[in-house]
Amino acid sequence: MAAITLSAITKRFGSFDALQPLSLEVQDREFVALLGPSGCGKTTTLNILAGLEAPTSGRILIDGRDVTDIPPMQRNLAMVFQSYALYPHLSVRRNIAFPLEVRRAPRAEIDSAVARAAELLEITPYLDRYPRALSGGQRQRVALGRALVRKPAAFLLDEPLSNLDAVLRLQMRAELSGLFRSLGATALYVTHDQAEAMTMADRIAVFAAGRMLQFAPPLTIYRAPADRAVAAFVGAPPMMFLDGIVTDGGAIQAGGLTFPARHAPLAPGAAVTLGLRPEDVSPARDGPTAEVVLVEHYGGNQVVTLRAGPARFCMLSPPDMRIEQGHRIGVSVDPRNLYLFAPDTGRTLAAPGLDPRNETR
Ligand SMILES: Nc1ncnc2c1ncn2[C@@H]1O[C@H](COP(=O)(O)OP(=O)(O)OP(=O)(O)O)[C@@H](O)[C@H]1O
Ligand SMILES: [Mg+2]
Repeated sequence: MAAITLSAITKRFGSFDALQPLSLEVQDREFVALLGPSGCGKTTTLNILAGLEAPTSGRILIDGRDVTDIPPMQRNLAMVFQSYALYPHLSVRRNIAFPLEVRRAPRAEIDSAVARAAELLEITPYLDRYPRALSGGQRQRVALGRALVRKPAAFLLDEPLSNLDAVLRLQMRAELSGLFRSLGATALYVTHDQAEAMTMADRIAVFAAGRMLQFAPPLTIYRAPADRAVAAFVGAPPMMFLDGIVTDGGAIQAGGLTFPARHAPLAPGAAVTLGLRPEDVSPARDGPTAEVVLVEHYGGNQVVTLRAGPARFCMLSPPDMRIEQGHRIGVSVDPRNLYLFAPDTGRTLAAPGLDPRNETR
């Protein structure tokens, strides 16, 4: 496997900047998720790495070797596409064998590589079927099998699970991370599903509009987001944002509620954006009250939408707790769990995962 470096990569399509200068270092054996909304440049990044698209500027290194001007086949990267791109007229066996047949590998080597990949992916019983006779999850494994037999320097995966139903997706998510860990594979995994990125990746690169906003381990992204956009993108239900003001005592007032805060001193009267994650808000008998706008039951818990003045936020509460729409309910938030952002730039001023002593910004 291999380390991958993207150095100041840009991509223009006509007059449109699809990628701002992007620098990213993926370590050998690392599983990195590229996470971001539709159109932010995830596929473009993979295509450039794979050599299917040339960067407008910048260099690509694989294990220190500059491959920017080297054709795709010689980069030895295996790409798995969202659509799987299987050959319908070839059996599963031949689909998996294809890259080795192109290389004119000896028959015995091909057979043993296919058998090994099929066993690993548990698709041995389907080797003589055609792709149309397979479920989505099975097809997805065939596409992976085809990538595996190449023994690539790294795997590039573009939303490989997005065609699967929710249950299969969850199952494959776990299987894929297990598989890549056991192979010790370097992988770049594109997804717009934050839960996939959070659960599978060693590090997540969060993208928006052609720019990388943050590159960090999942928990850092979650508890110490670089800015409001990153914070908004991870977490389900998502973080809610309230317009707030710093009080004379250093607490945060938002929507008529006062939240005691624990952060480096901010000037009294300063405007801040307060971010609340639903799981950080709890019901409290003697807390300030908010009106219950909506209660949604999810079986294991309920999501309660609350209104305080102009502000709305959500709370996660146990399923057996009776909370009625239209009533008022006391709430509290552990001061350590407040997120604060600069209203103009969106930059993070305070977050649970940031040491408050370092927050002298
Ligand atoms: N060949 C092209 N010509 C012009 N614009 C392009 C081309 N390919 C991509 N783009 C634009 O570049 C931007 C990034 O596209 P890209 O396919 O990388 O997005 P993405 O993050 O993979 O999105 P999605 O999650 O929808 O797959 C988009 O705005 C897209 O319209
Ligand atoms: Mg894409």
